[in-house]
Amino acid sequence: MDKRFSGKTAVITGASGGIGAAIAKRFANEGANVVVSAIDDRVEAIAQALRDDGANAESMVADVSLVDEVKELYKFAENKFGEVNISIQNAGVITIAKIEDMTEAEWDLIMDVNTKGVFLCCQEAIACMRKHGEGGALINTASGQARQGFIYTPHYAASKFGVVGVTQSLAKEVAKEQITVNAICPGIIDTDMWTYNDEKWGELLGGYEPGGLMNDWVEKQVPIGRVGTGEDVSGLVAFLASRDAAYITGQTINVDGGLIMS
Ligand SMILES: NC(=O)c1ccc[n+]([C@@H]2O[C@H](COP(=O)([O-])OP(=O)(O)OC[C@H]3O[C@@H](n4cnc5c(N)ncnc54)[C@H](O)[C@@H]3O)[C@@H](O)[C@H]2O)c1
Repeated sequence: MDKRFSGKTAVITGASGGIGAAIAKRFANEGANVVVSAIDDRVEAIAQALRDDGANAESMVADVSLVDEVKELYKFAENKFGEVNISIQNAGVITIAKIEDMTEAEWDLIMDVNTKGVFLCCQEAIACMRKHGEGGALINTASGQARQGFIYTPHYAASKFGVVGVTQSLAKEVAKEQITVNAICPGIIDTDMWTYNDEKWGELLGGYEPGGLMNDWVEKQVPIGRVGTGEDVSGLVAFLASRDAAYITGQTINVDGGLIMS
């Protein structure tokens, strides 16, 4: 029996670890050809592991904030697999600092990667999808911080609110071409990013101990009562890329154990 994404090609950015690697594994397991990309070369090991499991997987190092590298990435995907059907804009970065310490360079980095990077990848993915004219699915990784800004991260919150704006605007533009554009808002997901968050917020808020902030938040604020995993997120992404979600577009969906209910 055909798997859900047999014959489809998915590009996944930010796939060298964490949420992106889990998404890549999910799509590969469900039959997709996958192109994993990230700014660091751990993506090659991710692709190799997927190939070892029998998947069609390729990797490319690319910086999503640089238009030429993004163009190369989608050209690479088309050259390898013929066409692009699904694109997951998941690459993201964060820094945490008090307002008096936050630099212009930090602001620019976060906006360039998290918001412009999503836009540039969507732009190239849509151009690829228009060539075959069979529609497609774009999923953009936002954050709980696209619902509510957290302390010491105004740039990150702005960048993720921006992802929702990009998602809604593009969804309206390409809907008639049967291209859906949706965003997801992960909550506290156990990845390298959260290890940094835990340490930095813990330090600035006081009383830091390794894992302490995450455990405290999970205990007090996450109704489901546990930290999220990449697999919790990848299930939602796969649904949004599937035929079952063909009538869902322009939406932003939380995947956070109930942390934020809006
Ligand atoms: N972990 C969480 O709790 C959490 C919560 C909400 C949202 N998110 C979002 O989920 C996404 C994945 O985060 P994660 O937790 O897996 O983090 P992570 O740090 O484990 O992975 C980040 C990925 O982004 C890539 N990346 C960074 N800068 C890049 C650039 N300029 N160009 C291309 N790739 C780049 C890295 O190489 C890596 O593959 C991010 O967009 C993040 O903002 C994470």
